[in-house]
Amino acid sequence: MPLPIMGVSGGVVGEMGDYTNMSAYYDLIMTSGYYDYQKIVENITRNNSFGSVLEIGCGTGLILEELGQRQPGADIMGVDLTEAMLSIASERLQQFPNISLSLQNVTNFDLKKRYDLAFSYGGVWYFVVDGDNEPFMVSHLYQEESNHQGLARVASHVNTGGRLLLGIQGPHRDYEKPVSNGMLYSQKIEPTEHGFIKHYYLAEREEVVMAQTINYRTYRWSETLALLAQYGFEHDADAEKCSHFIAFKKSVSAQ
Ligand SMILES: C[S@@+](CC[C@H](N)C(=O)[O-])C[C@H]1O[C@@H](n2cnc3c(N)ncnc32)[C@H](O)[C@@H]1O
Repeated sequence: MPLPIMGVSGGVVGEMGDYTNMSAYYDLIMTSGYYDYQKIVENITRNNSFGSVLEIGCGTGLILEELGQRQPGADIMGVDLTEAMLSIASERLQQFPNISLSLQNVTNFDLKKRYDLAFSYGGVWYFVVDGDNEPFMVSHLYQEESNHQGLARVASHVNTGGRLLLGIQGPHRDYEKPVSNGMLYSQKIEPTEHGFIKHYYLAEREEVVMAQTINYRTYRWSETLALLAQYGFEHDADAEKCSHFIAFKKSVSAQ
């Protein structure tokens, strides 16, 4: 039996950060070498101790599956706004009684509990690190207001002293690479006033079989620190022995 998906059903197609178009091809693209899920989860478990963990923008559950195998005793939750992505996750994760899924937008999600650790890898927020340049944060939420709403919701789901980990990606450039079934995956980037638009394509012999566009907002490092500080998250340089995430600690003075 697939895992039940909590939250509202349907009605999210076309929302900011919606991955419906890509969902049927997502696993194919990601497991053709785009992300290394074992390393990502190693970085989470090696550097953090937690009894409960929340993934923001869990997609098809590729990280949650690896986490469930390594942490069978942990209370694990995944939130995502794309129903088609979560349906794949619910099939994938059916043998994990300690994993739950919820279909909600991060801007207003409510799970009625707090977690020791929250993380997002390629999910709603992530960092781009390009050589010695300062990291900058990328958000699937283009509106400034939505970022405030989302971070306020995340803060209200993390225990005091708990951590928020945001994944690191390499430089953003136009990109083209064959995937394991021979199709060609590509990304094209267009700068915008507050960030960039990214077009994703999958093509089979010149014919486009999938196209998706996301409008991202970006924040410089100093802007990111100021934004996160408003919600009680302070940069935790001590936690950065890992190469895959930048860590923030929920301060004692925050709610
Ligand atoms: C690139 S995928 C990453 C999935 C997963 N973390 C992984 O590593 O495979 C980004 C995910 O973030 C989700 N997402 C984007 N905006 C969101 C929002 N506002 N609320 C919740 N999820 C969101 C998308 O639906 C998508 O599944």
